[in-house]
Amino acid sequence: MLKNIYPKKSLKGTITVPGDKSISHRAVMFGAISKGVTEITGFLTGDDCMSTISCFRKLGVDIDISEDTVKVYGKGLNGLSKPSEILDVGNSGTTIRLISGILAAQPFSCQITGDSSIKKRPMSRVITPLSLMGAKINGIEKDGFAPLHIDGTKLQSIEYKLPVASAQVKSAILLASLFADKPTTIIEPIASRNHTEIMLNYFGADIKNENGKIISSPVKQLYGKPVSVPSDISSAAFFMVAGLIVPDSHIIIKNVGVNETRTGIINALKKMGGNIKVLNQNNENGEPVADIEVTTSKLNAITLEGSIIPKMIDEIPVFAVAALFADGTTIIKDAEELKVKESNRIAVMAEELGKMGANIEETSDGMIIKGNSVLQGAEVESHNDHRVAMSLAIAALKANSKTIINNSESVAISFPSFYDYIEKL
Ligand code: S3P
Repeated sequence: MLKNIYPKKSLKGTITVPGDKSISHRAVMFGAISKGVTEITGFLTGDDCMSTISCFRKLGVDIDISEDTVKVYGKGLNGLSKPSEILDVGNSGTTIRLISGILAAQPFSCQITGDSSIKKRPMSRVITPLSLMGAKINGIEKDGFAPLHIDGTKLQSIEYKLPVASAQVKSAILLASLFADKPTTIIEPIASRNHTEIMLNYFGADIKNENGKIISSPVKQLYGKPVSVPSDISSAAFFMVAGLIVPDSHIIIKNVGVNETRTGIINALKKMGGNIKVLNQNNENGEPVADIEVTTSKLNAITLEGSIIPKMIDEIPVFAVAALFADGTTIIKDAEELKVKESNRIAVMAEELGKMGANIEETSDGMIIKGNSVLQGAEVESHNDHRVAMSLAIAALKANSKTIINNSESVAISFPSFYDYIEKL
């Protein structure tokens, strides 16, 4: 689908963006392997989280959906049943990697597949540690890639140093650790999002973090509880950047998850001189939430590198858009993980923003972005990557004529009503 985006002179208003994708996935998965009913409110009904629901229904779990409230009738730690069909995760890396940790320990075998993007994304990062735990898991067509075949078996605990800062890998191991005999230790070189640790503990798990050493001790059972999902900071980020770069703008984004393992984007934009305020801090089932207020600002270039990168990994495409309008040259380093997301986000952002007149040099681990850009409207391509589509739309608000986004419907993965929000503001 083609979408026309027109430049805007001002953006004003108060919005609530949809629920957090990471937390929505986890609430379904952990609810499914807990005893009792997990009622999830503020659930993100985007395509990725619906793929998680579809997989768990095939594993025998009853799940009711009514608007953004989801009820998961948990089966307990040992209650999933063998699916009669191949599990399909669609576009969702979180689903395939996390579910692998659960399926590795089940008393049945099954297969998992996904779309053409999923089949290109590395799965060896979960296959390696799960195999060390005794799992029988392999790529059916190609080593290290989906579709995967998993022969569930009894797992042993391990001590494992994560080679990449990845919450998906950490979470797969933590889920497998629930079924192991002894405590499992994961050493995390750089902290990644910790929603799994928070929610599993809330459901009765025993996971401790001792200075980057995460120790998960086995428990007999998990118990489902109500989960209220905060708005997704990754979706809010598009409107934070829009509010900073579009003239005469003032936007308030309500009830956003501000877990400190996710707030890199706020810190980076503030470091550039962005006028962003975090107001009305609160807590929902162990996750901090707050309102975010953004006002048009003059931005300065910065260098983005090191431990902040995993804290804003999904926001780097839209951060690159902010950098186009900063004074000076912004450098992004240590972000090679962007190459193995839904698309190669370094190459794709440089190419597509380049069509609008941006000057972005691709490097092996990031980008060099020239600021003070003047963008022209152009025909650009989302590469079927939701965050690319939305980042290009934000850049288009500052172009001097209409921009056309090809395959614009990919926003349905994480933010189905995204384009309506632009109109609302
Ligand atoms: C996610 C973790 C991140 C992120 C993804 C969601 C999660 O991936 O990019 O969108 O929910 O755990 P990695 O853990 O692979 O960095």
